[in-house]
This record gives sequence, C-alpha cells and structure tokens, in this order.
Amino acid sequence: MPASAAPTPARPRPLVAGNWKMNGLEASLAEIAAMAGGYDDALRGRVDLLVCPPATLVGAAVAACAGKLAVGGQDCHPKASGAHTGDVAAEMLADLGAAYVIVGHSERRADHGESDAVVKSKAEAALRAGLVAIVCVGETEAQRRAGEMLDVVGAQIAGSLPAGASARNLVVAYEPVWAIGTGLTPTPADVAQVHGFIRERLAAALGEDGAGVRILYGGSVKPSNAAELMGVANVDGALVGGASLTAKDFLGIAAAYRSQ
Ligand code: 13P
Repeated sequence: MPASAAPTPARPRPLVAGNWKMNGLEASLAEIAAMAGGYDDALRGRVDLLVCPPATLVGAAVAACAGKLAVGGQDCHPKASGAHTGDVAAEMLADLGAAYVIVGHSERRADHGESDAVVKSKAEAALRAGLVAIVCVGETEAQRRAGEMLDVVGAQIAGSLPAGASARNLVVAYEPVWAIGTGLTPTPADVAQVHGFIRERLAAALGEDGAGVRILYGGSVKPSNAAELMGVANVDGALVGGASLTAKDFLGIAAAYRSQ
C-alpha cells in the first residue's frame, strides 16, 4: 500500500472528566448518582465519563456510579505503601475501584511544589497500580505573555511522561493556569495550536501510540462553551472543575458530543 493510502489513525474516544478538587461531602454522592442516571445509551455510545472526587469519597463514588461512570483520584504518592502520613497510594485508589488518577495538576504543582520529576514518578505509580494516569500541563499567564507557552508545555511533557506510557494508560490534560476557575478560555485557535503541539510531542515520544492518547482541554469549560472547545482538532475531551460538581452542568458539557 503506498504511504499516502495508509489509514489515518482513528480519533481517540473522547473523555469528559470531572475534577471535584477539595469539594464534596457524602451528600454530594447524589450528584454522582444523577450523573450515572443521565449517562444514557446515546451518550455512552460517544463519550467516556469520569468523576474524580476527593479521596474520601472514591469508594462511595464507585458504588454510586453503579458501573456506569469511571471514578478516579486526584493525586497519588509515588510509592505503593510506607511511612508517608496523609498520602494516598495509587494501589489504594485501585483497591477502591478507581480506574484513573490525575497527576501534576497545576494546583498541586503550585501548592505542593511538585516538579516534573515528582509528577513523572506519580504517573509511573499510577501505571504500576493499573490506573490510567491523567498528566496535567499548562502555562501561567506570565509565561503566556512572555511567549513561552510551547516551551513550558514541551518541558512539562518531556519531564512528566511516565516510562511505559501508551494510548491505553495515559491521558494528557492541557490546562492553562490562567483559565482555571476564572471564566477565561483561550481562543479555539490557541487551543488548536497547543493541542497540535502536544500531539506532535506524544508522537515523537510514543510513536504510533501518540495518535491514540487522549488530550483533554481544561479551564473554565461550561455547557455553553463545550461544543466549541470540544470541536477543536486534537481536543479529545475535557477536564472540568467547577462545572463538574453538578450532574446538570457535567452532563451539559458531555452533551457536546451528542452532535459530534
Ligand atoms: P475549572 O473548570 O473550574 O476552571 O477548573 C479546571 C480544572 O482545574 C480541572 O482540573
């Protein structure tokens, strides 16, 4: 077959993931149950849904999802066990029925000084435990203004990707720090530029598998802007903060895939 006739790699199956951050009490499980209830066959045919509640609710969230949505953690320790007071191992999340874990979120990079090397070790812990690692990258406002956006994201990708990554066990989330919780979003052209760049870097690192890694956009995704953002090339879903706390908004974002 001539090279030009090679089949284009199929678009990865989209993923809409909710990051609840430090929000959610037992009463909030009703929202997760409502998400599971609203995840109808039509939606299921087009998009995966994942909710990442605080670690305290992971086990109960798995039960509330009734096998319909996937559940993930928001962080994990690099080690499987040991004297690390207050930390949660990837194996513990897996033991509760989690399937994913977010690592390297900008809030953890900022609040806990997590370096790319630490993020990489956490992503490797996720893979060791059989979880899918969602590795977060993204530039600050100052870095964007200085024109360093691609350099920053490129360095984060190079430094944070786990050994043994594949399209099955890795998701990358591009979350510009200045867009998180601010109501601001990059233009579709800006998102296309960064996601295209991430795709190139993934292809360089992982070969053919790079085309199958899901690249999520995160930062002020809402039902009202989801269709536009999800329609951008190389955007394979969303990592949603505030709007993932209610079933209505979370399903409203997922609904962007009904028409794609
Ligand atoms: P918001 O959707 O609240 O902007 O948060 C995005 C985010 O940080 C998801 O991880």
